[in-house]
Amino acid sequence: MPIRTIIEPFRIKSVEPIRWTTRAQREEHLRQAFYNVFLLDSEDVLIDLLTDSGTGAMSTAQWAAIMKGDESYAGSPSFYRFRDSIQEIMGYKHVIPTHQGRAAERILFGVMCKKGDVVPNNTHFDTTRANVEYTGAEAVDLLREEGRQPALNHPFKGNMDVEALESLIQRVGRTRVPLVMLTITNNSGGGQPVSMENARQVSAVCRKHKIPLYFDACRFAENAYFIKLREPGYADKMPKQIAQEMFALGDGCTMSAKKDGMANIGGFLCTNDDVIAQQEKNLLILTEGYPTYGGLAGRDLEAIAVGIQEALEEDYLRYRITSTGYLGRKLSEAGVPIVQPPGGHAIYLDARAFLPHVPLHQFPGVALTCELYLEGGIRAVEIGTLMFGNAAKMDLVRLAIPRRVYTQSHIDYVVEVLIELWKRRKDITGLELAYEAPFLRHFTARLLPVADVAVAVSSR
Ligand SMILES: Cc1ncc(COP(=O)(O)O)c(C=O)c1O
Repeated sequence: MPIRTIIEPFRIKSVEPIRWTTRAQREEHLRQAFYNVFLLDSEDVLIDLLTDSGTGAMSTAQWAAIMKGDESYAGSPSFYRFRDSIQEIMGYKHVIPTHQGRAAERILFGVMCKKGDVVPNNTHFDTTRANVEYTGAEAVDLLREEGRQPALNHPFKGNMDVEALESLIQRVGRTRVPLVMLTITNNSGGGQPVSMENARQVSAVCRKHKIPLYFDACRFAENAYFIKLREPGYADKMPKQIAQEMFALGDGCTMSAKKDGMANIGGFLCTNDDVIAQQEKNLLILTEGYPTYGGLAGRDLEAIAVGIQEALEEDYLRYRITSTGYLGRKLSEAGVPIVQPPGGHAIYLDARAFLPHVPLHQFPGVALTCELYLEGGIRAVEIGTLMFGNAAKMDLVRLAIPRRVYTQSHIDYVVEVLIELWKRRKDITGLELAYEAPFLRHFTARLLPVADVAVAVSSR
């Protein structure tokens, strides 16, 4: 019998209460948070879809492994279990632990980039872009055209434009391109996967010019499962085999273990290059810790060693991708504009299409995020003009789904709230920026509703 009901492939052993608030309370919380949901207290949020990063639930096997954590400063067996588990999947010679993904980025770019360099990527994530730019290099996004059209249905909208990569290298010269990055899946572009074929082509261009290829591997397991579902020739392969094939096309990776590492903290950096690895370890000792712990506790290394394997289990991936797809389908059926097709870890609302009456300088994505909180206590995140400034190609609101945390009824509740907002979308208005930091301004920005700004100006 074909089963249509989505069931979570786990039982719940320990529960964490979530708290209802009234609309009046949420209005006050949002006002105090300067209309920036990053500044809300998580206890005032009912369903937290701010990020899938570090917010997952660990398995019994991970908790059991945590008890084996060896906290020795150097040479801990926890590090060797961590390294072996990662090497089995990724195959790279050096595995360097870091406290999270951006630390791996800072070390990688700190060692490999300098002023005047250019780093191509399908789409740089915000921390990746900021870390490239911090070295004085330029971060260039080379997403293929179909990835820039939110409503277009295409199986691999994370693919890099290989011709654009070739012509960029020709134009700036090979010596100014210290590495190429490929983000799997493409978070900022809508959680969309990269095909094996595209990775192969990117790898061929890199090999031809002798430029190393690094993966931003945060969601590599979801990317592998999409390849299994969508790319000819992969249906009968296991997600792990697909991941291994992809990593073999590159020379290293950065990883936030807070995503497909199924851990609450951690990351790592891999490379096949002995000289680069030595420089990276030197920088690691300066800023993160000794190379067998890299700023993590031994127990964190154990949780990642187990979690990264669990992320590749087929039952888990089927449930994860189906459940996220269910949210996307329900919203689409109601007419809510989302990035198509649904991504792996999140659904992205197209805020420009949702609120066409809100101009970009009044942050349609932030306006929608605020309304989502006011209406249903749901926290999402803007990925658009506030996050990227004028470089933003789209204004999206990401509903990121923490791994193994929320049930299908939570997802149904999110659908219900969003459909309600969609019905009264014409009443939603924009915001103005009152404060911005010089880097990554979205984390700390303060905003005011335009209606309040107008009142303040007219009463002057
Ligand atoms: C694609 C991508 N790269 C890098 C990072 C940075 O990882 P971290 O938050 O662990 O520093 C993230 C985090 O969301 C991400 O999604």
